[in-house]
Amino acid sequence: MTGALELLTVYLGERLGLYQALQAGGPATSAELAARTGTTERYIREWLEHHAAGGLLEVDDPAAGPLARRYRLPPGHASVLADTGDVRYQAFNGIEIVRAARWMPQVAEAMRSGGAPPPLPWAPEGRPEFNRAVFLNLLARQWLPAIADVDRRLRSEPPARVADLACGTGWSSIAMAQAYPLISVDGFDLDADAIAAARRNAEEAGLADRVTFTAADASGPDASGSGMPGQYDLVTIIEGLHDMSRPADALRAARAMLAEPGCVIVADELVEDEFTAPASIEEQFHYGWSVVACLPAVMGDPDTAATGAVLRPATLRRYALEAGFQGLEILPVDAGMLRFYRLTR
Ligand SMILES: C[S@@+](CC[C@H](N)C(=O)[O-])C[C@H]1O[C@@H](n2cnc3c(N)ncnc32)[C@H](O)[C@@H]1O
Repeated sequence: MTGALELLTVYLGERLGLYQALQAGGPATSAELAARTGTTERYIREWLEHHAAGGLLEVDDPAAGPLARRYRLPPGHASVLADTGDVRYQAFNGIEIVRAARWMPQVAEAMRSGGAPPPLPWAPEGRPEFNRAVFLNLLARQWLPAIADVDRRLRSEPPARVADLACGTGWSSIAMAQAYPLISVDGFDLDADAIAAARRNAEEAGLADRVTFTAADASGPDASGSGMPGQYDLVTIIEGLHDMSRPADALRAARAMLAEPGCVIVADELVEDEFTAPASIEEQFHYGWSVVACLPAVMGDPDTAATGAVLRPATLRRYALEAGFQGLEILPVDAGMLRFYRLTR
């Protein structure tokens, strides 16, 4: 409960800009932080005391009076709580947990009926950009360069074309275009709101001439019927395959999109090869998201594969073979919570 409550207070810190205000303006009393953020001193005092009690913030003199105490964000904590561009940034998890909790009544109902809960709208929390910093810093600067032939192709003439399926708000596409100045990237996602955000993100990054985004079902007729087949040197599906209700269809479409030679790279959760119990904390994390979000989201399709977040290599191999690939290779890419696969033709 203490951890759960702390995450809810992180939601408040993120939403109200409290971490950024502490980072930018330096140590503050409750009145100063309230003034900086347009909030109410008494609420902020309680939030600061909570955060200091839990060690998230430091207080200069705990013995000072409640209004005189000055709170600071230690530099190591600023990377996690305030700096949205840092790969260690995690405060978006406050948003994640509030969003997940919001649809629990509908998930409980769906668990009885067998269907899916209605899609969760973005408002009022918005969509947390959980992969933004890691994609911009690592995806195309460390992870893809670790796949030598792919890296070589992306750097060489004629300019490579990349399709990025289930691209969400577009950060993987943008990261690839930033790191590889020759390539063009077409991102596709089922979620029209995500695609609108991705277009804005590409504009702001100055990449709209080389990065396009289209709302499309990667496993449906849109994928094979809209002029995409046979054109791409690389098709990526990064933390998206387990979120598709028909992943084998999406892989078949990805295969059809490839030019000769071309390659499909899938990155998905780094889970154990087989079910174990009790399992590692990482496995528990993936199962937690699977139960509350990833599985419910795909249960509305009558033909769903009902994958869930725990997509094991053997399951992905089965989907790959079903889609017409010859095999599946696990790539030696050190990508934290993700595992990289190459599907071989
Ligand atoms: C966990 S999000 C990941 C987004 C992005 N790849 C990232 O890592 O930030 C999964 C995404 O898969 C998309 N998705 C699910 N089913 C899809 C489908 N059939 N076709 C295209 N996108 C799909 C969802 O809309 C969502 O944006």
